[in-house]
Amino acid sequence: MIHARITGTGSYAPKKVITNQDLEKLVDTSDEWITERTGIKERRIAEKGQSTSDLAYEAAHKALKAAKLPAQELDLILVATTTPDMIMPNLGCMVQEKLGAKNAAAFDIYAACSGFIYGLSVANAFIKSETYRNILLIGAESLSRFVDWEDRTTCVLFGDGAGAVVLQRHAGKRGVLSTHLHSDGSLGNLLNIPAGGALHPATHDTVRKRMHFIKMKGNETFKTAVRALESAVQEALEYNKVKPEEIDFLVPHQANLRIIQAMAQRLNMSMEKVVLTVHKYGNTSAASIPMALDEAVRDGRIKENHLLLFEAFGGGLTWASALVRW
Ligand code: ACO
Repeated sequence: MIHARITGTGSYAPKKVITNQDLEKLVDTSDEWITERTGIKERRIAEKGQSTSDLAYEAAHKALKAAKLPAQELDLILVATTTPDMIMPNLGCMVQEKLGAKNAAAFDIYAACSGFIYGLSVANAFIKSETYRNILLIGAESLSRFVDWEDRTTCVLFGDGAGAVVLQRHAGKRGVLSTHLHSDGSLGNLLNIPAGGALHPATHDTVRKRMHFIKMKGNETFKTAVRALESAVQEALEYNKVKPEEIDFLVPHQANLRIIQAMAQRLNMSMEKVVLTVHKYGNTSAASIPMALDEAVRDGRIKENHLLLFEAFGGGLTWASALVRW
């Protein structure tokens, strides 16, 4: 059986830290409120002059090094992002240039926080169909550039960062065992950036109305997220005939500690089996799963043959799950 196996991981978090105490000086909020409602204590912010392609490059470089794969041997670069450097060219092409990956095709996956799992399914399909052998998948975001720093309901939640994995053809039992993807466009208004696209191109009016920033109906998103994630996780378990106790690690999208705890509880899983980074990076959207994965691989928690469950939920709305044999 041919699988796409993850042979290297990498991640990058910008050096600049913004703590909850820093945010108390910007908007009417408190460390207590943010910690209680989200589990977030601090987040990283890209430096002036640093952009999403720079974060993506750093993570990709580390992942290629870990996989011992020269960039020239990549067939495809996929970047999951909602905050690319520009609308055109795509972020994948920018990373290709920075890496010198001359032989790779490159495009972006645009599915908000679920983007990494969507990308995993695309990479898996290309490898299983024997179209490509070596794929670089990156999740990278500079959400700080799209956050309204005057809106306390969103600015406390998001952060910047990047994570990357190298996926290679593997004839055996390890690798991506399944991906399940879902979307519901009728709920797109729960989470969006209204202007800057073809519907509302930038004008003085769109800027004045702060339409280029992230808008979120947090409470409704929260309730939908828990229900949708539960069903996507069940789907992954049933499809693979796996019981929750057989999962070695849950590597969830890091939007909110309460959502993650609710999922762990439904799986009857102790929090020691959940990889958590939300306290120090906040919600880094498509970057959060590969950043968490890289951390747990590098500190030795994730070991060969471990069974990993990924789940994510985000704008679109989109949600997804994946099961991976490490
Ligand atoms: N500090 C202090 N008070 C605040 C803050 C803040 N930063 N933000 C909101 N409040 C207030 C509200 O104004 C409200 O006050 P009111 O009762 O006087 O009106 C009160 O706190 C409660 O607000 P809620 O929105 O109901 O708070 P909730 O418990 O739902 O927590 C949160 C908000 C953290 C946003 C939560 O709803 C959440 O995590 N939602 C899901 C987010 C998510 O998963 N998004 C998807 C991924 S993101 C992506 O795709 C890019």
